[in-house]
Amino acid sequence: MQENGGRLVQQARIVLDFNWAGAYTKPSPRLYPHQWSWDSAFIALGYATYDTSRAWRELSSLFAGQWSNGLLPHIVFNPELNNYFPGSRVWRTELSPHSPGEIRTSGVVQPPVHAIAARRVYERLLREDSAGAEAFAEQIYPALAAWHGYLHRERDPDGTGLVYIRHPWESGMDNSPLWDGILQRIRLRPGQVPEYQRLDVGFVAEEDRPVDAEYDRYIHLVRHAADRGYDEAAIREDAPFLVWDVLFNTILCAADRDLAALARSVGEDPTSHEAAADATGRAMNARLWDEESGLYLDHDLAAGRDIEVYDALSSLLPLYGGIPDPGRAGRLVHNLESSGFFVGGDGYPAPSYARYGYGYSPVKYWRGPVWINTNWLLMHGLRRYGYEEHAETLRSTIVSLVQRSGFHEYFHPATGRGHGSDFFSWTAALLLDVLSMGDTDHAY
Ligand code: SER
Repeated sequence: MQENGGRLVQQARIVLDFNWAGAYTKPSPRLYPHQWSWDSAFIALGYATYDTSRAWRELSSLFAGQWSNGLLPHIVFNPELNNYFPGSRVWRTELSPHSPGEIRTSGVVQPPVHAIAARRVYERLLREDSAGAEAFAEQIYPALAAWHGYLHRERDPDGTGLVYIRHPWESGMDNSPLWDGILQRIRLRPGQVPEYQRLDVGFVAEEDRPVDAEYDRYIHLVRHAADRGYDEAAIREDAPFLVWDVLFNTILCAADRDLAALARSVGEDPTSHEAAADATGRAMNARLWDEESGLYLDHDLAAGRDIEVYDALSSLLPLYGGIPDPGRAGRLVHNLESSGFFVGGDGYPAPSYARYGYGYSPVKYWRGPVWINTNWLLMHGLRRYGYEEHAETLRSTIVSLVQRSGFHEYFHPATGRGHGSDFFSWTAALLLDVLSMGDTDHAY
């Protein structure tokens, strides 16, 4: 643990307390006031280090918004708040027979980190109180199984092993240059997108956020899904955005393995989850690996071609899921070292989009800034393949960025300055997890 690890731990807990809304944690006090899906999972990982009952509560609140077909929405709205766009009315989720009646949600998903978090919470609970651990697993396992069931059934109708996403928000990396080509293909005419007012740019610097042309298309895609009553078969028939995403499938593969472990703990058969993880890993190697560049590339299903963007950090993150063989892992690490990700000198690895990549911006959300969650995933991936020194660089960067600039949402890769929101919950939560690593025996 770092010299002042104790003080950082205290500060991180203060951030989470500040954002705690009674039953869930706001990802940030003003920019993201409702409950977000993958944020909650990362946040639960942080709570698992010191408050398992809050971790449990966090995940329960999120799953209260789950749809009857298993879809786990990316936002569960707090009915008392009306300070986020697009709010619950924009989503028109009542058009789906599967959406919950009372609880308002969005109609897209985010990367399925939840089983990964739930397994960690379960293991922590086991040490404290085995009856509590059992009760937790019994509550969370069926909800997680339904969530993964939705993804494999509705988002992989042909059984390829790969699930698709149908909105940039589903990738978690909203304005990554990965999506530029697809969004450019969407030609909007006057009146096609209703007038709306963005609130995000009132809370953080406009230059740190996606541009209006991206937001127009985000809203257009929300309307596309809502107009089809959130019927997946109807959506995918003419969806402008339909992608096999490397990061989403990597996380699903890892999460299916953790779901198998949870299945075992409740006496259920784990084999379908293990088989699903194997199928996803195989399909990623067969269909998303690009031999020439030594990277995993996203695939644009609407256009029927690979997304030829070679500078997204997500191309390296299959390391986290144990997906590449050692030879391919070596090529990923070579890319990490040589492609403007592993910022030398005084810089801070690893930018979400490489320094010399076309479309790079050091401050603009997912177009370059360093994010703590992707550093955390990469750190674990590197450790898994024995790249201890690089893993340590990522770990110490997480700590030093927060020490230098506070609990920001993302950081400038050259200066380390904080950008986006301050008091960002997953930055605090994952820092807590990293600081607890030396103290625990959990598997990294
Ligand atoms: N990440 C998106 C936002 O900025 C949508 O969840 O609000």
